[in-house]
Amino acid sequence: MSTTFLALDFPSKEPALALVKKTIALNPYFKVGLELYVAEGPDFVRALAAEGAKIFLDLKFHDIPNTVAGAVRSAASLGVAYQNVHCGGGLEMLKAAVAANAEAAAKLSLPAPKLLGVTVLTSLDDQAIQQIGFPRSASAQVKQFVELAQEAGLDGVVCSAQELPLVQSLAGKDFLTMVPGIRPSGAASGDQKRTLTPAEAVRAGAHCLVVGRPVTAAPNPVQALQDILAEVASA
Ligand code: C5P
Repeated sequence: MSTTFLALDFPSKEPALALVKKTIALNPYFKVGLELYVAEGPDFVRALAAEGAKIFLDLKFHDIPNTVAGAVRSAASLGVAYQNVHCGGGLEMLKAAVAANAEAAAKLSLPAPKLLGVTVLTSLDDQAIQQIGFPRSASAQVKQFVELAQEAGLDGVVCSAQELPLVQSLAGKDFLTMVPGIRPSGAASGDQKRTLTPAEAVRAGAHCLVVGRPVTAAPNPVQALQDILAEVASA
């Protein structure tokens, strides 16, 4: 059964908490990303965890190994269930992140957050990837990043649902997959390019789905979330 993380992409805590209050009993999984974290910081994350939320802290760290290790350590102390770094930071950075995540959690006697590597953003298509300077397709780039993530000892990756068969063939079905770019049929794709529906992502074997605007921008967000959860459960 896949888990659905609701992306709390809001500019401040008030609308985020209003949505959490309406949905936490239905589904306690939430993603806090850059917009909300930069606005509200670690206190918001601690308060959300104290409400019983299971949090994916999606800050996609990408810096020199020492700096990323420090950031991962700080995030691990917040009581989040998942956090992530960018595979593009290289093997040494990824290994430093793995070590820091485990050390910080052990020091506080907390379970270590699952540490995921961002592969290729779901907003990028092949043309955009080549424009950056990677001379290959999204899937070839994802393959390279999955191999790095495995070698470094990450728990899994963030990838498009379209790349799930590739990730599973490289890393096996237990390697965790967190899949954004989920669009129920008929929903606007926005800036996302490599999308699949919730049912398609579940059938392809995603461990976790990330859903933002199909819920947050819906006229009735609770109903939209219920519909997605029902689609996930029956896929
Ligand atoms: O609104 P939407 O459903 O497109 O939200 C997707 C969420 O997943 C956003 O918060 C975005 O930052 C995040 N994300 C992504 N692609 C990744 C990693 C995270 O879209 N590779």
